[in-house]
Amino acid sequence: METTFVMIKPDGVQRGLVTKILERFLAKGYTLRGLKMMNVSKQLAETHYSDLSAKPFFGGLVEYICSGPVVAIVLEGKAAVSQGRALIGATNPLVSAPGTIRGDFCIEVGRNIVHGSDSVESAQREIGLWFPEGLVDHTPVAQPWIYE
Ligand code: PPS
Repeated sequence: METTFVMIKPDGVQRGLVTKILERFLAKGYTLRGLKMMNVSKQLAETHYSDLSAKPFFGGLVEYICSGPVVAIVLEGKAAVSQGRALIGATNPLVSAPGTIRGDFCIEVGRNIVHGSDSVESAQREIGLWFPEGLVDHTPVAQPWIYE
């Protein structure tokens, strides 16, 4: 089983899309291992996106993530990282396929409503960063109806 980190960004929260976004992952069969609404410090945003610090959009990206509360989520399941990214869709919503979260709910890359870890290594780093308190142990009863 794999875990991935998903963040519903401030625009997703402000636009009332939290349940719609979360529903995509849960309906697919992924299990919640962590969920919290929080304000993001500049330090946390800068650390999370530290590999992008040289990009021209870095300052704007950090400002965007700190502009309102986010919902931080950890999901668990088979291939959760790659499938999580597939459910989210391409980074630029203008080329995200319809049926993906970004393809259905947003237009601009600078307001693309949700983040998902891009590799198993990133997921581990991001989960440690956003959930230093650890995850919740949880094996839902529906598991035998999802995995053979
Ligand atoms: S890059 O340039 O290829 O490294 O960027 P990419 O891997 O596509 O995206 C990394 C994260 O940066 C966000 N991003 C942007 N934010 C604001 N403005 C612009 N122009 C922009 N371009 C990329 C993008 O949404 C990724 O963030 P997350 O949170 O991972 O989706």
